Amino acid sequence: MTHTDSTASQATAPAPSAEEALATSTSEASLARSIARSREIEADMPANPGRYRMLTGVRPTGNMHLGHYFGTMRTWAPIQDMGIDTWILVADYQVITDRDGVGPIRERVLSLVCDSLAVGVDPQRSTIFAHSAVPAANQLVLPFLSLVTESELHRNPTVKAELEATDGRAMSGLLLTYPVHQAADILFCQANLVPVGKDQLPHLEQARLIAQRFDKRYGRADKKRPVFRRPEALLGQAPLLLGLDGEKMSKSRGNTIELRMSADETAKLLKKAKTDSDRVITYDPASRPEVANLLTLASLCGAGEPEQIAERIGDGGAGALKTLTIEAVNEYFAPIRARRAELAADEAYLLSVLRAGNERATQVATATLDAVRAAMHMDY
Ligand code: TRP
Repeated sequence: MTHTDSTASQATAPAPSAEEALATSTSEASLARSIARSREIEADMPANPGRYRMLTGVRPTGNMHLGHYFGTMRTWAPIQDMGIDTWILVADYQVITDRDGVGPIRERVLSLVCDSLAVGVDPQRSTIFAHSAVPAANQLVLPFLSLVTESELHRNPTVKAELEATDGRAMSGLLLTYPVHQAADILFCQANLVPVGKDQLPHLEQARLIAQRFDKRYGRADKKRPVFRRPEALLGQAPLLLGLDGEKMSKSRGNTIELRMSADETAKLLKKAKTDSDRVITYDPASRPEVANLLTLASLCGAGEPEQIAERIGDGGAGALKTLTIEAVNEYFAPIRARRAELAADEAYLLSVLRAGNERATQVATATLDAVRAAMHMDY
C-alpha cells in the first residue's frame, strides 16, 4: 500500500490505514489505550531506567508558571534521578508556528533554561538544547516530509485547533508541518519516552508513523536494526489547574503565577484570585471551580487533601482560603525560587549550559542523520 496518495490508498485498502490510525488517535478508545500503556511504562521506569530516553519539549513563548510546573516540570528531576537519560528541548522554532514574531525570545529561552535547572535538572546528566542550534536534527524534516501526505497533515486535530486559536491567521506552511518537525525532535535523539498532554497524542502518533514508514521504505537489509525507535507517550496525571480568574490558565491571559515571581508578587496575585461569596469553604470542583482550584493548588503544595483543607477552613471564607494557599505556595516554591534567583544572576552560566546541550544534541543528531543518509544511499 502506498501512502503517497491517500485517495488511492483509501480506495484500494479498506483495512484501517496508518492515516486513519492518526485521525483517530484522540478517540476515546485509543486515549484509554494510551493511558493504560503510559501507566505500564511508568511502572517499568524505576525498574529499567536504561530502557528509556525521555524527551520533553517546551515552547519558549513566555515564563513558566505553576500550571507548567505541576503539569510536567516537577517530574523532570525525578525521572532524571531514576537514571533515565533526560533531554529537554527549548522548542524555539515552534514559537513561529502560530504568531508573527518571536518576541523577547532570548530572555525567554534563558528563562526556561533557568527554570529547568531550578527544578532540579542537572546539566551534567541531562541535556538542555534548542531547535535552532541543531541543524542536523532540522534536516531530518526533509526526508520526513516525503513520508506524510498533505491530507494527513490537514487532518491533525491539534494543528486544526491551533489554527483556530490564531484569530483568523492563514495556515502557514510551518504550522501545517510542525508535527513533522516535532517528529524530527523526537526521532533524532532516539527518545522513546515523551511526556505530553493528550493534545499532543496526534503528534506522537505522527512521529511513530514516520519512524515506521522510514524503516519500511529505507530499512536496512537485515531489518533487525530499525533506524528509529518508536516513541511512546507518558501522559501526565496532574489535575488541571485553572488560572486565577477561573478560566483556562494561559500565559497570554495573564492569569498565572510564574515560577520566577517573588513571594510578595505571589501573595498579591492570589489575593485577587476569583472566588465566590459562600463563606463556608467546600471542595466542589463542579459547582465551585474557583474555590476548588485554590484548594487543589494548596493541596499540590503540601497542605493536605483538598477536602481536609476545606474542612479546616470551614466558615473562614475566601480570605482564610487565600491566606492558607499563599503560605503553602510560597513555602513550597521557596527553595526552587532561591535557586532560581541565584542562577538567573549568572547569564554566562545559563548560556554555557545551553551550549553544552546544543553540542551534545548536535553529536547525536549528526549520528542519526548519518544513519538516515546511509539508509537512503546518500552517503557519499
Ligand atoms: N508541541 C509541544 C507543545 O506545544 C512542544 C514540543 C516541541 C514537543 N517539540 C517537542 C513536545 C517534542 C514533545 C516532544 O507543547
